[in-house]
Order: sequence, then structure tokens, then C-alpha cells
Amino acid sequence: MKQPGVGVAITGSGSAAPAAALDNHQLGQIVETSDEWIASRTGIRQRRLAAPSETLTTLAAEAAQAAIAMAGLAPTDIDLILLATSTPDDLFGTACRVQAEIGATRAVAFDLTAACSGFVFGLVTAAQYIHTGVYQNIVLIGADVLSRWVDWSDRRTCILFGDGAGAVVLQANDCDRLLGFELRSDGTQNHYLNLNYEPTEKSLVDTVTIGCGTFNPITMNGQEVYRFAVRRVPEVIEKALFRANLTTNDVDWLLLHQANQRILDAVGDRLKIPPEKIVSNLAKYGNTSAASIPLVLDEEVRRGNIQPGETLVASGFGAGLTWGAAVFQWGR
Ligand code: UT7
Repeated sequence: MKQPGVGVAITGSGSAAPAAALDNHQLGQIVETSDEWIASRTGIRQRRLAAPSETLTTLAAEAAQAAIAMAGLAPTDIDLILLATSTPDDLFGTACRVQAEIGATRAVAFDLTAACSGFVFGLVTAAQYIHTGVYQNIVLIGADVLSRWVDWSDRRTCILFGDGAGAVVLQANDCDRLLGFELRSDGTQNHYLNLNYEPTEKSLVDTVTIGCGTFNPITMNGQEVYRFAVRRVPEVIEKALFRANLTTNDVDWLLLHQANQRILDAVGDRLKIPPEKIVSNLAKYGNTSAASIPLVLDEEVRRGNIQPGETLVASGFGAGLTWGAAVFQWGR
């Protein structure tokens, strides 16, 4: 339940990307594809890929530190670290490693998994802790290293994904800057996009057999995911705007999950939001899953394009299937 007078403000952002880039021409040495095919179908020109020394923890920590600094806080001011990821360094959770790395000694830390919707689901989750008066300063990180789980022999998927991290700081505020949101899940369509655990039978004793296997690389039905995104994302954005008592005319910036430029264009067309309000950094990073929205947000904030008080709509969609949108104003 929301406590009277406890609003949420998003007061800082940060991001991090691996040093190495792999462009479409180089990808053509790995699978049968071309820069022309990838760029025209997706808008992607290159993706950044993590070296073995660049872990989910190091990328997430770098993004979190930058966001905390922008908010004018110290790591010890942070009450909660939420790490949205599908590619943990440790299946038991990676948020605690980030907590140790940045010295946020007071913070509770845990992971949240909602694939490419992770940042938007995390934003809404974090806001609940502030609205109820439980926590005052929260770092939300969206970070993924999907390159670990891509099938690098499958040209239908390996061209899409890249690695990165983005973070924001949410703070308790007199005025509530989270204006509306809508989250959705549909597990009946789960099979369209998976990073599946595959059990191998292992008999321990005569009467007990367990499934002791590993995760398989990403599989995706691209056309179905594409159709889902173009239909469902505009709906959820309209619903979130309705809850905020706003219309698409009130939107200053649309921050869509950076999956495919054609999806960004189609969603913009359906909502009649002009292209200049739809941020895109796909060409440089590809699809970085939970990182894509905070990464592009941080770039636009640091460029001075996104200004305090402007109205932003963030919308994520992907595996689960999950999708959602949040409407908020930048800054206090
Ligand atoms: O975070 C959410 C994650 N996922 C997404 O957002 C994915 C959404 N889907 C998409 O972005 C698109 O479906 C893709 C970019 C994945 C594929 O684009 P498409 O226009 O749906 O292509 P397609 O799968 O229909 O393939 C068209 C042709 C096929 O050849 P044939 O059967 O027509 O001869 C493919 O074999 O293109 C071929 N193809 C390629 N050719 C060159 C597929 N991948 C490649 C490739 N290079 N990398």
C-alpha cells in the first residue's frame, strides 16, 4: 500500500559496455550472413561482447557506481540493490557480488529475472518498496551477458544479441514521478523464446533418479516474437499512459527495449509517436536484454537530450513471454 507523501524519483543513471565490438562484417566470418541483411532487417551494425574478464558483476557494478554518483549518493546510502538479469555469474544470485564490489554495505541485494522486460519489471518492483516507505534509496540494474548463451552457429539468433549493463537510482521524493505502469505475462507462449535447462537422467540409487544437466543455448521463433511485440507493446503503453492520465501526445521520449529497429518503427507508427522521440542505440549495441532500456536512457541523459521533468515511457518485452510499460518523469 502506498504511504501518503512517499513518491518515487529517478535521480541518476549509469551504464557500462564491454570493450570489444564485433561488427556485422566480422559476424559474416562466423555464420553465413551479411552486413546488408542484418542492418536492413534489424538496424544492428555491431554488438559489444564481454571478454572472460568482463563479468556480469563487473559490468553491473560499473553501471551502478555511475548511477549512484549522478544521484549524488554514496554506495553506503543504498538500501536495496535489484539486479534484473537472465545471465547471472552465479545461479544463486549475482546482486550480492555487485553489493560487495561497490561497497554498498547496508544494502539488501537480490536478482530479478524477467528477460528483456527485467528493467521495467524491476522499476515497478523497486517503486513498491519506496511507496510503502520501506526503503529510500534503491539501485536498479539491468544487465545481461547473453553472448555466453547464444548459439554462435545459428544465424537467426546470434546476429541479434550483445552484452551490457545499465542502472538507475530511485529515491523517495515528495512528488511521485512514477505516473503509471502496466505489466503482463503469458506463459502459454513461453516456447517462442527460451534459454532452457535440459536435464540428463542421473540415477543416484535404485529408487531415485534426478535430472542433472545444463542450460541449452537460446532458441527463438523470431517471426512470432516480432508479431507479439508489434501487437502487444502499443497496447501496454496505451494502458500505462491511461493509468497516468496522459496520452501519446504527452510523451517526450519513448524508450523501447532495443530489439529491432523495425519493431521500434512499427510501435512508433501504431502509437503515432514521431521517430525523433524514439531513442535508439541498436546500431552500436544490438539487443542487450535487461540492459537495453537503462543503457539507452543513460546515453540520452548524459548527452543532455533527456531533461528533468520530461515525460518518458519505457517499455520492455521478451521471453516469458513478458511485457510491460512504465511512465515516469526524469529527475526530482
Ligand atoms: O528481446 C526480444 C528478442 N527477440 C526479438 O525481438 C526478435 C524479433 N524478431 C526479429 O527481430 C526478426 O524476426 C529477425 C530479425 C530475427 C528475423 O527477421 P525476419 O524478417 O523475420 O526473417 P526470417 O526469419 O523470416 O528469415 C527470412 C530469410 C530466411 O531465408 P528463406 O527461408 O526466406 O530462404 C532465413 O533463413 O532470411 C534468412 N536468414 C538470414 N539470412 C542472412 C535468417 N537469418 C539470417 C541472417 N543472414 N542472419
